[in-house]
Amino acid sequence: MSSEMYEDLVRRDAEVLWHPYSAAPAPILPYVVKSASGTRLTLHDGRQLIDGMSSWWAVIHGYNHPDLNAAMNAQLDDMAHVMFGGLTHEPAILLAEKLLSITPSGLAKVFFCDSGSVAVEVAIKMAVQYWLSLGRPAKKRLLTIRQGYHGDTFATMSVCDPVNGMHHLFSDLVMPQVFAKAPQIPFDGVWDDSEMAEIRELVAARHDELAAIILEPIVQGAGGMRFYHPQYLSQVRALCDEYDLLLIADEIATGFGRTGELFACNYAAVTPDILCLGKALTGGYMSFAATLCKSFVSEVISQKGPGILMHGPTFMANPLACSVALASINLLESIPWRERVLEIERLLKAGLEPCRELPDVKDVRVLGAIGVVETKTPVDVKKVQERVVARGVWLRPFSNLCYTMPPFIAKADEVKEIASAICEALS
Ligand SMILES: Cc1ncc(COP(=O)(O)O)c(C=O)c1O
Repeated sequence: MSSEMYEDLVRRDAEVLWHPYSAAPAPILPYVVKSASGTRLTLHDGRQLIDGMSSWWAVIHGYNHPDLNAAMNAQLDDMAHVMFGGLTHEPAILLAEKLLSITPSGLAKVFFCDSGSVAVEVAIKMAVQYWLSLGRPAKKRLLTIRQGYHGDTFATMSVCDPVNGMHHLFSDLVMPQVFAKAPQIPFDGVWDDSEMAEIRELVAARHDELAAIILEPIVQGAGGMRFYHPQYLSQVRALCDEYDLLLIADEIATGFGRTGELFACNYAAVTPDILCLGKALTGGYMSFAATLCKSFVSEVISQKGPGILMHGPTFMANPLACSVALASINLLESIPWRERVLEIERLLKAGLEPCRELPDVKDVRVLGAIGVVETKTPVDVKKVQERVVARGVWLRPFSNLCYTMPPFIAKADEVKEIASAICEALS
């Protein structure tokens, strides 16, 4: 692409587009991507960047993968889309069966939707409607842990961290929820039961008004990139059982191997009552998500009250998305993903270790194929991006976090390059 064409595109982008979490036009010029293949993004001028972000956790197998392309092309020949109200199709059935066979055991029904935020909306609606159907309308609030992130729609915003989320902007509109402090004992820390004291007190005092506890299992993503102790998750499960609350696990970021387990709930051998999946579900090919639940949830909602779940997106169970998701899971099952994720973990641990010596670095942590450097002061996003791009790496830091979650196909040299680019950019 000539520099005139590039300048023209950037100018027109600024004229008509609004980018995520940004002013319009965006204060930092976006990089123009011409194509993407494997681990690499190719920019307008031919420069190639190793994608250290997997396009926000999603592209686990890399871009332009022949198996995923073939699945979508084959599905296109049959049908790109058909409504799901009153109709069904094999791709949806096959994918639901596959999801139920690989997720923690005990889940029984799959509700497909369009994005992670909508999957969480549906989960919240299921939990609230469950108690409504049982004649317990007071049980309508959610308890969650601080430093969580569950999406940008209104119900999901209400369970995001009340300080670093967007509550303050919409304080009159966001549903009031109950917040426990974020778990403090790290993933590999020494467990102490006192960690549960506050959340136990909250549940004991307010369970009559609580429908469910919602959390991201093990890894809190966009709310702080924190990894907490599996014992916390198993004790939250026990707390839900003791006080008759539903447990909603949001595995939109953690699902499909990212943490080193296929699902982060597996670290604590926990089955949630409701499970949200998204992002890597389609290998990053399409916006698509799913909310799974146990049979007692679907039975209560189906047999009492209005007798139907009050949700039904237009593009629910889109056949292209179902087909590519099924191909992505089959591909995952056919590769030694666990070994690859552990190898990425080893390389990130070694490669990010030098960051600990940097004066502005507060913490370095790695779990599975997720590497995080937390700084003491906010990261200068523009500067860090310019530096890593100059090294041939793509990252998108935010707040005090410079982090990476490379595609599982990333080679050792590429992971080393990402880690080294992070250390250099922060020094
Ligand atoms: C844990 C979690 N839940 C929900 C969402 C929202 O997903 P989406 O951006 O697809 O709406 C995200 C997105 O980052 C997430 O990380």
